Order: sequence, then structure tokens, then C-alpha cells
Amino acid sequence: MPSEQATFTRMQDGTRDDWMKIAAAHKKDFHHTAERFIDMLRQLEGVTLGFSCDQLQHALMTGTLARRAGATDEEIVVALCHDIAKVINVPNHGAIAAEMFKPYVNDHLYHVLKYHQDFQGEHYYAYLDAPTDLRLKYIDEPWYDLAVKLVDEWDAEGFDPNFEVDPLESFIPLIRKVVHAEPKAVG
Ligand SMILES: [Fe+2]
Repeated sequence: MPSEQATFTRMQDGTRDDWMKIAAAHKKDFHHTAERFIDMLRQLEGVTLGFSCDQLQHALMTGTLARRAGATDEEIVVALCHDIAKVINVPNHGAIAAEMFKPYVNDHLYHVLKYHQDFQGEHYYAYLDAPTDLRLKYIDEPWYDLAVKLVDEWDAEGFDPNFEVDPLESFIPLIRKVVHAEPKAVG
């Protein structure tokens, strides 16, 4: 049975046959992305970072508020996952999450993810001696109102450890639908 793996040890020596095998393996791998995102959400459990609830509760509360407000599927998944990259790196979590979701969500949501911390700053940067008006940089952007909604109505409201959130399982079909196996190419 022919191997499903390329045989070259230096990229310079690759053949068309090698690259067809690699391309096929990559295509198969796309099916795992949603599950990896779900695993990352689970890793937020117990991570409080000093907040009154852990980051999983915060994610679920943000997603639940979005769903109850009648948000679109993409908006709900972005609300749920806006802090997902805190698993990797807290200071850069917005930018990391934006790139993770870029192939799956519309351009407005990509920007909302990327810059959501600048919008949040209005609520607390004064306590950290940082400017609170960073969101005004984006006031002419077509996604400005969406960022305000996500941050002010869902994210900033989402720190109640006693709020009855929808369970993670209830969001899994939505994550699988949005983070589908055929991502659009990103430049
Ligand atoms: Fe958040």
C-alpha cells in the first residue's frame, strides 16, 4: 500500500506526488479545527486571572447574552470565543483570536475580535493610568457599532459567577457550523 506521507527530507527535493499527499493531509486536518477551538474553551475553566468568575464562565456568559439578544451564529461564536486566546497569551489575545477566526468569520467580526480590548478600555483603563478613549480611533469604521454591542452589552456584562449560562455543549453545534472544514483563504 502506498504511503500517505511524503518522503523528502529537504523541501527542495519535494515532488508533485509528495505535495499532493501533503495537500490531502492538510485538507483532512481542517476537520479538527472546531474541536481544537472547543478544547481551548475548556482550558479556560479555572483560569480566573483575578476576576470574580473564571474565563470559561465569562466566555459562556458572553455567548449566552449574545444568543439571547438574537445575535447571528457568527456573532455568538465570536462572543463566546473572544477571549479564547488567553490560553496562549493574555496581552495579545485579541490579535491571536482574530487570526484564528479570520478564515471563518466576516471582516467586521475579525476587526471586532482584534480590537475589542481598545473598546473595553473605556471601562477600566483609568484605573491602570491608560487612555480610556482608544475606541474613538475606530469611530468611522463600519464595524464600530458591532464592537460597541459585543463589548458593552455582552462582554463587559459577563462576569457574574452566579449567572445561569447556557452550557458549553449547547454552543458546540454552532462552533462546528461556523468553524467549518472549508475555510476561506486568508491573505
Ligand atoms: Fe472578555
